[in-house]
Amino acid sequence: MTVLCKTCEIPSQSARGFNLDGRALVAVHHNERFFVYENRCPHRGVELEWQPDQFFDFEGNFIQCATHGALFKIDTGECIAGPCNGQALTAVAFTQVDGQIILL
Ligand code: FES
Repeated sequence: MTVLCKTCEIPSQSARGFNLDGRALVAVHHNERFFVYENRCPHRGVELEWQPDQFFDFEGNFIQCATHGALFKIDTGECIAGPCNGQALTAVAFTQVDGQIILL
């Protein structure tokens, strides 16, 4: 069991990157829900963010890859535009217990 962070450490409508022993992850807090994905674009396998903890497109509606601009649905990780259209971010299983995000 690995505690990723406290939920209060990720404000609503934001995301945060993590590096756990070389494993890059992104946790997102969007519309009262949390999501955790591998921080790896399915197009080229690179990390997604523009700058530290900056994962969203301009309007904050999608996760966007900084390299070629692929857009991913926040709630499923599905790519809906860009060079990896139809692929998806890899979801990471987790649970929320006592205000913490715990990886399963
Ligand atoms: S590396 Fe992400 S869209 Fe190309």
